[in-house]
Amino acid sequence: MKKNERVNFGGMLTAILASAGSAVGLGNVWRFPYETGNHGGAAFIFIYILFIVILGLPIMLSEFIIGRKTHANLAGAYRQLAKDSKWRFVGHIGVFTGFLILSYYAVVAGWTLEYIVEAGMNQFAGKETADYIGAFKLFSEDPIRPLIWLALFLFLTHFVIVKGVKSGIERSSKVLMPLLFVLIIVLIGCSLSLPGSAEGVKFLFQPDFSVVDSSVLLAAMGQAFFSLSLGMGCLCTYASYFRNDTNLAKAAVSVAFIDTLIAIMAGLIIFPAAFSVGIQPDSGPSLLFITLPNVFQQAFSGMPILSYSFSILFYLLMAIAALTSTISLHEVVTAYLHEEFHLERRVAARWMTGACLFVGVFASLSLGVAKEYTLFGLSFFELLDFFTAKLMLPLLGFLVALFTGWYLDKAIMWREISNNGTLKVRFFRLYIFILKFIAPIAILCIFLNELHLFG
Ligand code: PHE
Repeated sequence: MKKNERVNFGGMLTAILASAGSAVGLGNVWRFPYETGNHGGAAFIFIYILFIVILGLPIMLSEFIIGRKTHANLAGAYRQLAKDSKWRFVGHIGVFTGFLILSYYAVVAGWTLEYIVEAGMNQFAGKETADYIGAFKLFSEDPIRPLIWLALFLFLTHFVIVKGVKSGIERSSKVLMPLLFVLIIVLIGCSLSLPGSAEGVKFLFQPDFSVVDSSVLLAAMGQAFFSLSLGMGCLCTYASYFRNDTNLAKAAVSVAFIDTLIAIMAGLIIFPAAFSVGIQPDSGPSLLFITLPNVFQQAFSGMPILSYSFSILFYLLMAIAALTSTISLHEVVTAYLHEEFHLERRVAARWMTGACLFVGVFASLSLGVAKEYTLFGLSFFELLDFFTAKLMLPLLGFLVALFTGWYLDKAIMWREISNNGTLKVRFFRLYIFILKFIAPIAILCIFLNELHLFG
């Protein structure tokens, strides 16, 4: 597709909803609660929110600028802005990181499909906490079933991508995002009504800073990047479809706000319920899948029809939230292959889907039959998660901050943020200052701290 053949999103609202669709996903509902649980609760959340503000927002705005200015895929964008320089590697590395993330993310997304079916067959009824734990273990370690769901989820993603930016991405996020929000509110109500739920609320909001060590900082930073879909260029690619009158700063603030709100709301579903039924908050990636069936059964114990319908609805919406994120990951790579290598969009998408399926199979098996094969004590699945979320995304974010803070012409940035001078921009100097100094130094310090270089 030549540049002027590229389509645009409909307007400001669609731009926000599509970006929020990318940001809101399993990162909020699955990853955020278990990372919070693993790292002590409220103190982690406090640091996480701090990182959203000082790192997430400015870097998101920078990605928006790069994308909308160039209207190109990630590698093309850097090539346009930094001719003949090494910066274009940031684009290539971003695309590769997106591919790795989708490969393991789709495994978990597949689990949500299994849970829709289990909920539909009323498998959660009349069970105890221990049964849910056992059932999840049995399923996730099965050599075949998770692979079928993985493949199905990737095909679903593939289907939307092939339909294209306008009818695929835009239309799906407009309906699905608001629906997700309403259901989450209902579920918070259910969860808070459980006996003993107050302990969970305390865990979420009463910080104990004595538990904060270097791994908490790295985890909170990784989660901030992961949850905002930041660093590897998802939002940059989406911004390449923004219209020229979209207010980039407003869009960035809205996306960060929606994403953080939904993460905290997910915490308000999971922790009160987990404490109420005695599930450990640090049970890791299984947390969501063993806590939620409990919520439905207990909150509506006298009304089986309600627990039945709500469980189906919840996993359905999870799958949908995951889908709007997998679409964005897929789009980064598809747009790249399509525009850089002149493959047809359909063919580009096929390559990406096939490659993700290949890597995803190993990621999935590494939780079951191939459990013994570990590196640094991590399974292949955990390794992919650690390498992308905790290393690559912050590293790429660091490079985006340096690129826009030091390299890119400030006049270009100002024109993008102010829409050619039509918007008032009061925070410009502060923004550049953060990009130049605060964000890179903060990211670097957290990395060095993790290596225990500060003693
Ligand atoms: N932000 C998405 C989520 O929270 C995951 C994601 C990460 C999507 C990185 C794109 C890029 O589920």
